[in-house]
Amino acid sequence: MENYKKELIKELLERIDIVEVISSYIPIKKIGKDWYAICPFHPDTKPSLRIRDDKKVFNCFGCGAFGNVITFVSKIKNISFQEAVTSLAERYYPDITIEINREYWTEKRAIIKANAHLLFNFRKFLTSKIGKPARDYLQTRGIDEKMWGTFAIGFAPQDPYTIPNLLLKEGFDKETLIKTGSIKEIEGTLQLIFRNRILFPITNSKGEVIAFGGRVLDDLISPKYINSSESPVFRKRESFFGITQALDEIRLYGKCIITEGYIDVIALHQHGIKYAVSCLGTSITSAHIEFLRKIASDVILMFDNDDAGRRAILKNIETLVKAGIIPKICILPPGEDPDTFFAKGGKVEELQIKDGIIYYAEYLLEDPLKKNDKILLSQALAKVQSLLSIIYSDSETQAEIYIREIASKLNIQSSALRSDIKKLAKPFVPINHPQNFIRKDIPEYELEILRFATFIPESIRFVREYIQYISSEEVKQALSVILEADGNLEFAISLADENSRKLLMEILIEHREYPEIGWENLVESTLQRLAIEKIRRELPELARQAVKDPIKKQAYLNMLKKLSYLEGYRRGKPKKKF
Ligand code: UTP
Ligand code: MN
Repeated sequence: MENYKKELIKELLERIDIVEVISSYIPIKKIGKDWYAICPFHPDTKPSLRIRDDKKVFNCFGCGAFGNVITFVSKIKNISFQEAVTSLAERYYPDITIEINREYWTEKRAIIKANAHLLFNFRKFLTSKIGKPARDYLQTRGIDEKMWGTFAIGFAPQDPYTIPNLLLKEGFDKETLIKTGSIKEIEGTLQLIFRNRILFPITNSKGEVIAFGGRVLDDLISPKYINSSESPVFRKRESFFGITQALDEIRLYGKCIITEGYIDVIALHQHGIKYAVSCLGTSITSAHIEFLRKIASDVILMFDNDDAGRRAILKNIETLVKAGIIPKICILPPGEDPDTFFAKGGKVEELQIKDGIIYYAEYLLEDPLKKNDKILLSQALAKVQSLLSIIYSDSETQAEIYIREIASKLNIQSSALRSDIKKLAKPFVPINHPQNFIRKDIPEYELEILRFATFIPESIRFVREYIQYISSEEVKQALSVILEADGNLEFAISLADENSRKLLMEILIEHREYPEIGWENLVESTLQRLAIEKIRRELPELARQAVKDPIKKQAYLNMLKKLSYLEGYRRGKPKKKF
């Protein structure tokens, strides 16, 4: 757990009165020096839940439930421990939340800055005399010099002391350097974890360097790749290599290719497919999915066509389908990965794309069918049915298409397959959906505008012009408070009424960060979206009136024009502002 959370938890436990919190949920009664309640966690008739004020814990003699105030809230509200922390902090001590978040961000910023300086030095070494073998290696791998720049490839020299010393001289403190996860302290001396390795910076969607992946020049040396260790800014399960370079194209096409390796991403990019990322050699996680879900409807897996790659595809298909996404699979020639495919002269047009479910079924059923092995076949079929049942719970129609196709491959009645799948189907529950504590009834792009006003004070002058387009009264209220306070958040919070204050706190707790450069585009396109949505809301009514009234008809046509203009603008066609 990150430090800031530990501190927040310590502080909360110290400051919050467990008796007060529990008594806000259930009736309690003092007997002797402790408090007692009917336990809410099991069917209880006598007060078997004891709350010990001195130790700040509760325990139940009936069902054995025990814990502190955070555990209690998490159990009774049926939310995660983390969510209980946030909810308690927000409810009782908003000041702690803000303060600790602020410290946390200062730490993150320092690490990101140190990473930027590391990158600067790695880049310098790549072009220096010492970097010659690395440059030669990149050339033998067919990576264009243009890509060296696009992916900011660097080189860490054999001597691990030079770069940390340079950074110390530049004024970075030792702790920050160690926190980057790329430098460690051994017997009082700082050294890089990378020696004589090509370095690929791993960045986040804002373009900040959060970690590095380092590859050996000589394949005989193992391990082939090492990564910076995890840090407050780098969590492997949430990161994609190449996301900075791919993000615009992923958004533009609503498509994302996921590969296994660093060089695969670079090779695809070099061949004009820029919406490719990799999951750092690990499986796709729920965190990856939640990120992608918002920007891409089309997820294409392009893994090595070897045993490990195929196994990884199957596992990732299962994860994605459970999260409600049916991926596509790009099948490479046997033994190849995207990089070797292109290196051997493969062309983009030759790439074959297959539906993920059909791939899954064919792959699992092929061997048992060929061998005519009944036991293997029924095992494989069980897996296929289980996957189809997940789709069935989500959409019977979609499942039906697969049922027919797979039944015909197996040469069985589709009704038999359908009835088995129906039995397995459960109500659809997406995996690990992070609980968003912001209310779902507010459109995401309106919340986003509130975030801009909260986190990018300079954006206020744009937001001011668009406030009339906001549909949610709550967002409108909160925004007008921020505008009234001229972007001073502390002031805004003290001006806000109960509702707006709550919404602002929720936004603050999300701790989003926006790029210092280029945020205007983001803000602008979201504001365009806002205008589009408003027109879309008003258009049907205007259309009804236009039928009877020629003046309204003109207004309607103008509106349509404006809409198509705005939509074109969002797709990046017209250059001038409307
Ligand atoms: P591969 O072994 O398939 O390597 O690992 P690759 O991508 O083809 O590498 P090149 O082309 O020889 O350079 C796939 C991915 O798994 C991770 C890396 O992210 C790598 O790109 N990996 C692999 C590691 O993290 N450590 C390793 O030792 C090997
Ligand atoms: Mn490779």
